[in-house]
Amino acid sequence: MDAPDLSTPDPDAAELIAARPMLSRHARDGLLAEGTPLAAIAAAIGTPVWVYGARTLRARYRALTAALAAAGLAAQVHFAVKANDRLAILRLLGAEGAGADVVSGGEIARAAAAGIPPGRTVFSGVGKTPAELRAALVAGIAQINLESAEELELLAAAAAATGRTARVALRVNPDVDAGTHAKISTGRARDKFGIAFADAVALYARAAATPGVEPVGLAVHIGSQIGSLAPFRAAYARIAALVRDLRVAGHTVRSVDCGGGLAIGYRNEPVAGPEGWAGALAASFAGLDVTVMVEPGRWLVGPAGLLLSTVTLVKQAGGQRFVVLDAGMNDLVRPAMYDAWHGIVPVAAADLVAAASPADVVGPVCESGDTFARDRALPALSPGALVAILDAGAYGAVMSSAYNARPPAAEVMVGLGNAPFQLIRRRPAPEALWRDESVPDLPP
Ligand code: LLP
Repeated sequence: MDAPDLSTPDPDAAELIAARPMLSRHARDGLLAEGTPLAAIAAAIGTPVWVYGARTLRARYRALTAALAAAGLAAQVHFAVKANDRLAILRLLGAEGAGADVVSGGEIARAAAAGIPPGRTVFSGVGKTPAELRAALVAGIAQINLESAEELELLAAAAAATGRTARVALRVNPDVDAGTHAKISTGRARDKFGIAFADAVALYARAAATPGVEPVGLAVHIGSQIGSLAPFRAAYARIAALVRDLRVAGHTVRSVDCGGGLAIGYRNEPVAGPEGWAGALAASFAGLDVTVMVEPGRWLVGPAGLLLSTVTLVKQAGGQRFVVLDAGMNDLVRPAMYDAWHGIVPVAAADLVAAASPADVVGPVCESGDTFARDRALPALSPGALVAILDAGAYGAVMSSAYNARPPAAEVMVGLGNAPFQLIRRRPAPEALWRDESVPDLPP
């Protein structure tokens, strides 16, 4: 579950830091990210600022591919670009060999701009427009994951218009409950995603008979932040059965795209890791001679990023302590949107060892939902103190908005070797927020 299980006590700052290789503590400099003092980043760039760890990102990608290889899978990894689409992140993962899983024309263009070849990119999504489908075919995208019979018609038209052949995987809805937050569950029959299981064989046949369309396999993605293997196994079993049914019916099925969804332990809770996932994949498709593809997002980038923020003031009201930050729900919306729990740790060396007591950690936005944490054990933070909101590398900056006319936070990367950190996205000037607006001549 993404909603925190509050039956166990919160991990303290020392436990959170110890469980995250990106972080370490220094007796004088306080909290470090891959060896760089977060205080130095805040002093140079200001806050709020997203901090990503290049070494952590690389290590996680390698751990995932090693787990897949150890399970005997020659799997293709397509990073779910939606989790973090920054060019620096995509370039780094692309250089490691990752392909891209994209869901819009914008993501197709971003992945290409970051140097991920279209031949290593798959295009998912429930509402691809005719223009996006044509652009994907012209770019030479490796595979389009088809989500409906209606979309097959659009794709056939795009193939005819461009003279290209579309290699497609049918995204099947296996009707499996992923046991995650309702807003990020995608594989139940009532969810908007995929083709009903019962319709899959007929639609595969129809796709095979459609000029310009070549069905090559199946795809499935049942949701995100899935902590146990059971729902994955249930979904993959249905897909494996479908592969057999399709072959009996005379169809060619070369690949299965098994989506993403692997959870991370935001609260240090135990979750299935890449080894377990790889084992489930290997067991599910053993003997079927299919290429296994995966589309992880969160697991790769989540723990490789944090949001660094300054305490604006500490307010006492109604017997409650409110720590008010300069970051808000417009920066990191996950707590407001999914009741998500993110670790929040102080940065200064003295704050890391000071006695803690409960506080609500909130942002400046004019909504009560702009609350990062309730009753969180934190030291007596003073205005100007820094805090790090952890595991914010996935679905963080990409979901931010300019609500309350708050410009997007800057973004930096550490662990590059040549400098303590590098700016990968500067904070835009306030005027950039209204640069594309125009004011009409208003009638008197
Ligand atoms: N493939 C498909 C087709 C997807 O829809 C997604 C995520 C992924 C792969 C990657 O899933 P991951 O490995 O990251 O779990 N904003 C939400 C999560 C939304 C996930 C949407 N789809 C959050 O902040 O929790």
